[in-house]
Amino acid sequence: MEDKKILFSAVQPSGILTLGNYLGALRNFTALQNDFNGIFALADLHTLTVKQEPAVLRQNTYELTALYLACGIDPEKSILFAQSHVSAHAELSWILNTITYPGELSRMTQFKDKSRNHEDNINMGLMDYPVLMAADILLYQTELVPVGADQKQHLELARDIAIRFNNRYGETFKVPEAYISKSTARIMSLSEPDRKMSKSDANLNAFISMNDDKDTVIKKFKRAVTDSDNSVVFDPENKPGISNLLSIYCAVTGKTVKEAENEFSGKGYGDFKLAVGEAVSSVIEPIRLKKNDLLKNKDYLDDVLSIGASKAERLAYRTLGKVYKKVGLVPRKRV
Ligand code: TYM
Repeated sequence: MEDKKILFSAVQPSGILTLGNYLGALRNFTALQNDFNGIFALADLHTLTVKQEPAVLRQNTYELTALYLACGIDPEKSILFAQSHVSAHAELSWILNTITYPGELSRMTQFKDKSRNHEDNINMGLMDYPVLMAADILLYQTELVPVGADQKQHLELARDIAIRFNNRYGETFKVPEAYISKSTARIMSLSEPDRKMSKSDANLNAFISMNDDKDTVIKKFKRAVTDSDNSVVFDPENKPGISNLLSIYCAVTGKTVKEAENEFSGKGYGDFKLAVGEAVSSVIEPIRLKKNDLLKNKDYLDDVLSIGASKAERLAYRTLGKVYKKVGLVPRKRV
């Protein structure tokens, strides 16, 4: 690998990704892969913390692999792999479990939210989710982790775990930093703009799926909840719906909020929503078409994941070996 800092992130293949996942995470991965050694995972083991239909999970895993590539992740430059293909992730998470406390995990906002939404399946994995996430990150001596704002708390826990391990056993892990892009850190729901846009929302109009075609995108933005004021002004407190649409518009056009406000001053919400829909669609449509094309060749996707896993494994076992030694496990003699 080139002598650059390590950047790691992961996305769960838990459904078709949303515009929030793209703007908050995937788009940044592609932008950063030239300046860092990028390592990108499909967090398939994390996905099992919520009930999954096995055949659907398999399909979603291919969908996400193809989407990563369609968004511009270059498997020649970056490592792209499935978490379950590198068993060091599960192994390190066991070790990290021994220095993590239930109180820390039960305080996590995502654990509390998911426990509320999946009352019939509050499993140990759901609670342990951030420890596996810490293992993902720490295995690669990661320095930077690009994520959306909802993952900030998990990142802080990963840092705490790294520092705790280093203090107890001696310098072993790099302490990672979060990279959270300010303007797209939290893309909000189109129906309830005080909640984040989420792929698990039961209301399909609440999110833009990366699989939505142009008509659907435009229809969803037309229906987006706003206010009765009819002025396109960025004011997240009093105008959360319009402010969210402005953030999205600026993120996909590259315009500043001021430029966008000027562009739509004196125009109604109808014109603005149509422009947002068209701008979003012009960005996601080519990605969708490319992704669907890539999906036709599962052999290629399997090859990409296989090569990625081999590269990731080498790095991961280097760290895991150090960890096992530090904690006092006797190395296995190879005969
Ligand atoms: P996941 O699959 O839920 O989300 C993937 C990425 O998308 C970001 N995101 C958003 N960003 C802006 N606005 C939104 N509405 C929005 N919704 C989601 C998430 O913050 C995330 O960056 N736990 C991770 C997966 C993971 C991981 C890791 C990440 C597993 N191991 C190690 C970093 C490092 C997750 O929930 O992804």
